[in-house]
Amino acid sequence: MTRPVFLTRVMLRSYKSIGNCDVRLKPLTYLVGANGSGKSNFLDALSFVRDALVSSLDNALSGRGGVAEVRRRSSGHPTHIGIRLEFNLPDGETEGYFAFNVVALKNGGYEVQTEECSIGGRSKGPYYCIERGKLKSSSESTFPAVTSDRLALVAVSGMTAFRPVFDALTSMSFYNLNPKLMRELQKPQDGRLLKPVGENIASVIGHLERNAPEQIEVIEEYVQTVVPMLHGFSRRVIGPMETVEFRQKMAGSTHPWRFLAQSMSDGTLRALGVLTALFQGNLDYSPTLVGIEEPETALHPAASAALRGALVKASRQTQIIVTSHSPDLLDDSDIDPDSLLAVASDEGETRIAPLDEASRKTMRDHLFSAGELLRLNQLTPDLKSLEEQTKEFDLFGDILA
Ligand SMILES: Nc1ncnc2c1ncn2[C@@H]1O[C@H](COP(=O)(O)OP(=O)(O)OP(=O)(O)O)[C@@H](O)[C@H]1O
Ligand SMILES: [Mg+2]
Repeated sequence: MTRPVFLTRVMLRSYKSIGNCDVRLKPLTYLVGANGSGKSNFLDALSFVRDALVSSLDNALSGRGGVAEVRRRSSGHPTHIGIRLEFNLPDGETEGYFAFNVVALKNGGYEVQTEECSIGGRSKGPYYCIERGKLKSSSESTFPAVTSDRLALVAVSGMTAFRPVFDALTSMSFYNLNPKLMRELQKPQDGRLLKPVGENIASVIGHLERNAPEQIEVIEEYVQTVVPMLHGFSRRVIGPMETVEFRQKMAGSTHPWRFLAQSMSDGTLRALGVLTALFQGNLDYSPTLVGIEEPETALHPAASAALRGALVKASRQTQIIVTSHSPDLLDDSDIDPDSLLAVASDEGETRIAPLDEASRKTMRDHLFSAGELLRLNQLTPDLKSLEEQTKEFDLFGDILA
């Protein structure tokens, strides 16, 4: 069964290099653009929401250098950091949104100016609106105490009405895999969810072996397409620690050779990390969205088709966003032009939009693939859409189709 896309629309204001952004997301979205254009900042805005809910707004800000670093620097009038996420809850039927803005105060502090959450339509489903730490309106008869330095969604996550939003937003995961850390011996953990750089991959493999062996088979199949010599892999305990052990076919040997992660190549480890991030979902736990930074890094161009296939397959279960500047990854005339978002920097300000109509038509007519257009530097944001985004848009209020 294909799950509905989780985040349908993302609106950002003054988040790092992003001034105004209003984009719609697909089951699989490729963010494509030059170095420093703002691709990672877009993913980071989503990660910021997750962090602010899992730990606290304070931690999410200080982990990024403080509110002054997160808010967009600009010569003009300083504005507030604003985020609005429109979503479908994993039940597949209920849509809603979560929006807030954060004001930097003169003393270096910050305050949540407005926070709104609505599920299933303002006058129909659960709803609340908070301004500067005061509850303005809510669908619920009781409401926990809220303060202006925290997100109220954390406080209301104990209420059945809002719990699904909290759970869905905190189940987004973001990855920038690091083979160096994947190679090290790892402390055993519960392994339900892969951590950001792959530092608990052995536990995750172990968890899948026990709870979802069919997912291990899928990962193995794709890893083998990328590294044909590979026979398989499994979690291996070494004293109090653990690691991943790989089995490799060797000519003339009846038994496969075994190598610990420590001896494996960067590309193999990264491929395993990317594929585990993509297919880690199981009955026990499944991310609502997986964001992966440059999944093609360290992979040979010939592995691109397999990686693309894995992204498409995974996106039927979990929404996927990847950043990329790989023409090889995008070299497929079947890539849906709507799944690409072009990211460009306009004098330091990030602009994000679907491709312009000419590029989309070129792709639809199979004249050029997205990869070929990228090589020609022709993947540019649609000007009309960018113009729309410069108009004042409201982060708060009901979803208007
Ligand atoms: N608070 C801020 N205000 C304005 N610009 C910022 C702010 N914080 C970061 N930036 C800018 O964001 C840019 C980096 O953006 P980002 O890391 O998203 O790029 P990227 O598209 O992921 O690039 P790469 O492909 O190299 O990874 C930097 O050039 C930096 O100048
Ligand atoms: Mg980046």
